[in-house]
Amino acid sequence: MLRHNSILSRILTMPIEETKHIWMDGKFVKWEEARVPVLTHALHYGTAVFEGIRAYPALDDLLVFRLRDHVARLLESAKMYYLDHAYTSTDLQDAILELLRVNKIRTSAYIRPLIFVGYGGIGLNFTGFPIRAAIAAFPYGKYFEKPELKVCISNWRRISDESMPPQTKASGNYLNSVLAKLDALKSGYDDAILLDHRGSVSEGTGENIFVGKNGRFATPPISSSILAGITRDTVLRLAQEFEIEVVEREVSRMELYTADEVFFTGTAAEVTAIVEVDRRKVGNGQIGKITRKIRDAYSELVNGLNDRHLDWVTKVYEG
Ligand SMILES: Cc1ncc(COP(=O)(O)O)c(C=O)c1O
Repeated sequence: MLRHNSILSRILTMPIEETKHIWMDGKFVKWEEARVPVLTHALHYGTAVFEGIRAYPALDDLLVFRLRDHVARLLESAKMYYLDHAYTSTDLQDAILELLRVNKIRTSAYIRPLIFVGYGGIGLNFTGFPIRAAIAAFPYGKYFEKPELKVCISNWRRISDESMPPQTKASGNYLNSVLAKLDALKSGYDDAILLDHRGSVSEGTGENIFVGKNGRFATPPISSSILAGITRDTVLRLAQEFEIEVVEREVSRMELYTADEVFFTGTAAEVTAIVEVDRRKVGNGQIGKITRKIRDAYSELVNGLNDRHLDWVTKVYEG
């Protein structure tokens, strides 16, 4: 019973520290007044696309990491699902920065823009229904409670392009991640890795994955049904600069069990070491040397301490 409770409490964590305002359809509204009708299409059919963006307090300011790239992916996801809205990339970037200022956020924060099909009737065909947008931003710390994760390989397969595009950050896609994540937590793991429809390693429930052996790393390619992560792209660039070999190629399940180092990347997860897969230790069961190096370099980068990549951070207050 105790064990069950402690597992459950882990599942129930992550309360949100609410802020004053939410941006909704072009206006700032009070947090508690940002509501939608029960018959909102997205609520029934998952017809929404979203982003997860982080901001870090640094350089006497608040820095949003790769804002333009996140908004670009949001617009691509919206296009994929015919969510015809009127917002440009600049509109959404400005709205995000203004929202952070309106809420006077100066601590580590998470930003969640969402474009969704509103209420216009019932049924799948949403032609003529309102396409709505909302952005929430709130203080946010670590996604994982631990710096080193014990994960399992889920027996749910990652959705494939044959059924719905895994490269869109569409709300409906996340039912796949939710199944894998909750099953993993209920079995006592910290998270899950999903295989693709062919049985190759795909990614985590909300993270991409890197696998290293003898100092050389591999990460599954787009064709392994991954979301093309912005953190993944950042880590690929960092690795190149450190002259660490990383190849984008199919990764087998066996490679996870015999790797020296494995880590997740994601906006929420940042760079997080995996030290156990299906109860088998990764390397010596502790964070690997290269993982630590990349994790620390990523942390410097998002905190505006890497001069080569200042174009990836946007100042909220001075900018
Ligand atoms: C399914 C999935 N894969 C990978 C990632 C990592 O992507 P990013 O680094 O852009 O946050 C995320 C998080 O957004 C995700 O939800």
